[in-house]
Amino acid sequence: MTLSIPHGGKLVNQIDLDYNASELTSEIEIDAMALSDLELIAIGAYSPLIGFLGKEDYESVLENIRLANGIVWSIPITLPVSEEAAQKLTIGETVRLTFNNETYGVLQLQELFAPNKIVEAKKVYQTTDPDHPGVKKLLNRPNVYAAGPIKLTKFPPKKPEFSNYYKTPSETRKEFANKHWSTVVGFQTRNPVHRAHEYIQKTALETVDGLFLNPLVGETKSDDIPANIRMNSYEVLLKNYYPIDRVFLGVFLAAMRYAGPKEAIFHALVRKNYGCTHFIVGRDHAGVGNYYGTYDAQKIFTQFSFEDIGITILAFEHSFYCTKCKSMASSKTCPHDKKDHLHLSGTKVREMLRNGITPPPEFSRPEVIEILIKGLKD
Ligand code: ADX
Repeated sequence: MTLSIPHGGKLVNQIDLDYNASELTSEIEIDAMALSDLELIAIGAYSPLIGFLGKEDYESVLENIRLANGIVWSIPITLPVSEEAAQKLTIGETVRLTFNNETYGVLQLQELFAPNKIVEAKKVYQTTDPDHPGVKKLLNRPNVYAAGPIKLTKFPPKKPEFSNYYKTPSETRKEFANKHWSTVVGFQTRNPVHRAHEYIQKTALETVDGLFLNPLVGETKSDDIPANIRMNSYEVLLKNYYPIDRVFLGVFLAAMRYAGPKEAIFHALVRKNYGCTHFIVGRDHAGVGNYYGTYDAQKIFTQFSFEDIGITILAFEHSFYCTKCKSMASSKTCPHDKKDHLHLSGTKVREMLRNGITPPPEFSRPEVIEILIKGLKD
């Protein structure tokens, strides 16, 4: 049994449900994205992070795609607070982290610093365009970053629609071990699984022991399909088309950043923490609009050694349905002309559904389409 070693060497655990935060006088009201980051840090999904990044790590992540100690990290995990709130805080104190007036954690406040968000946007998103959903979010969040180690003192409520699929990295590692998987491929998605996804997942499954289908269910942009509808679509797809003993479904609580290449590294490292040995990066991974080149999210990994990343990237060509081959294929396996190819993407399926058009089975399995049509109508 050789599941991957957690990033940085060991799984972080910053959960302390017995912690008594009631005496603490200072508090920071955090947003939904920070709440999901708090939980993900605490359960070890973001190992080796034990808290929100301080200035040195933050700048190092932007400049070098590494923490100050040299460990690869690509997306700054920060805790924005307003200038007004920051003025009430004292460095060195322990602060309650609240969401909707409920305390979920504490922060040992080590630093408060003002980021240069234009630099952050350029480095992380490669654009300062305020229409980019990741940049928009960055600019809309408060302007001071609070930093320091955290503890999770209470788990945020699970969404009842998919409460069975919340797993910590130590739990997924146990699940994989129980199934005697020694190689596991992680799959990130923010979309319903369409035929191109299925094709690349199953191609990977030909060579590894198991598939960890790990859809992102944190904040996404408003026109992405809501997570509860997607979860129903994954269930029906797995039931009808996958060897159930070779797939494990679990949710990924993070917010979507739409940071393309930088987010692909982040997604891979986090899946390594969940125990995956392999990670799929297809076309325009974590991309949006035309901000990134089709294969930029694959190319970025060439800057790093295997020791740096510690998980094998399975890079896939843009795949499509070929009407001549009568199967899914890519330019690597199909000799036919472009006009014979049906190009599939989550964006296209969403567009069709919005316009009342039923996508054909070459786009998406009929059972999945049924769930999406029903879900989007309700
Ligand atoms: S995202 O979170 O990366 O934005 P998305 O659901 O769009 O999620 O894609 C999930 C994964 O499938 C990504 O690795 C993406 O690169 C890959 N992918 C999506 N569509 C295709 C396609 N037609 N061909 C090859 N890879 C694809």
